[in-house]
Amino acid sequence: MSEAGLSVRNLTVNYSISRGPLAKPDQLRAVADVDLDIAPGKTLGIVGESGCGKSTLARAILRLERAEGATVVWRGADVGSLSDAEFRRIRPDMQMIFQDPLASLNPRMRVADIIAEPLLTHRRDLGRVERDRLVAEAMQRVGLRPEMASRFPHEFSGGQAQRIGIARAIVLKPGLLICDEAVSALDVSIQAQVLALLKGLQREMGLSILFISHDLAVVRHISDDIMVLYLGRVAEYAPRDVLFAQPRHPYTQALIASVLSSDPNIERMHQSPDIGPDMPSPINPPSGCPFHTRCSRVEAQCRSERPALRQWPDGARVACHVANRALPVA
Ligand SMILES: Nc1ncnc2c1ncn2[C@@H]1O[C@H](COP(=O)(O)OP(=O)(O)OP(=O)(O)O)[C@@H](O)[C@H]1O
Ligand code: SF4
Ligand SMILES: [Mg+2]
Repeated sequence: MSEAGLSVRNLTVNYSISRGPLAKPDQLRAVADVDLDIAPGKTLGIVGESGCGKSTLARAILRLERAEGATVVWRGADVGSLSDAEFRRIRPDMQMIFQDPLASLNPRMRVADIIAEPLLTHRRDLGRVERDRLVAEAMQRVGLRPEMASRFPHEFSGGQAQRIGIARAIVLKPGLLICDEAVSALDVSIQAQVLALLKGLQREMGLSILFISHDLAVVRHISDDIMVLYLGRVAEYAPRDVLFAQPRHPYTQALIASVLSSDPNIERMHQSPDIGPDMPSPINPPSGCPFHTRCSRVEAQCRSERPALRQWPDGARVACHVANRALPVA
């Protein structure tokens, strides 16, 4: 476990889905047994189709969802065992930015007040002058001009609005930034600018970044490590270059095959990879390997036995019976 950054072990989130007043609720396992580590200054990208549990995982790390039996350690503090008051003290160190920048900013507040809000909540010790100084510093860091401070969010383009969201997220100088589809609503050229901004901020501030996207091409640009989630479970988790040089899980292979174009600057991914029928319901997941209903390499064992996530010498971890047969014998 990393003492300095974020470490998560055995994170599982179940939702109860009501089927009416008299029926027993269904259990939906949104995230199952996920482990992850992010060192300071590093980015973990999480990729997977809609509904695979990316946002639930992020929310559980921030205690916005109840995780069962999980250990979440941030900078040496066991987040799950903190009282609410203790957690409130470390919470400013963990910030989140979202997909729709305009929807996540209060339309009636001026930019400077939006960015100052976390300081008013968490740094009540600060006077007006110091607060204004920190707001100006955050605006400058994200490339917003000082005269923009008195404008309202609707006066900004999507990319500029996302810069406001990022300024708001970094004004408390956090150590962890969780970006949930943070560039998905933006045009490709604007996406590239916002990704470059995030990378620059990471270098300056030593941020750990958890970067969530359904778009593997975007995740590739920013991540040091990549986790591929499928129906709430880790299918593959590897250093970025290992994952792209040698994807081992058939689902990862399908995702990479669906990243289009030979031009790395404009490569894009289909919304859904070309792997046959829709993702099964997480209320009634397939037996054995969760991917077996869509896998071209399925065998009898895959239907009955769930593959363990096994470690490869190059740092990859893979949950596939067939791929892991090629693992060198220890
Ligand atoms: N509050 C909730 N109550 C019940 N089920 C939920 C709740 N939130 C999410 N789910 C379900 O949990 C599963 C994981 O959802 P989640 O939003 O984490 O997926 P996601 O990977 O972030 O998807 P997307 O790419 O669409 O944002 C889905 O099946 C979803 O329907
Ligand atoms: S375990 Fe079997 S079904 Fe699952 S990904 Fe591997 S080959 Fe496909
Ligand atoms: Mg989501």
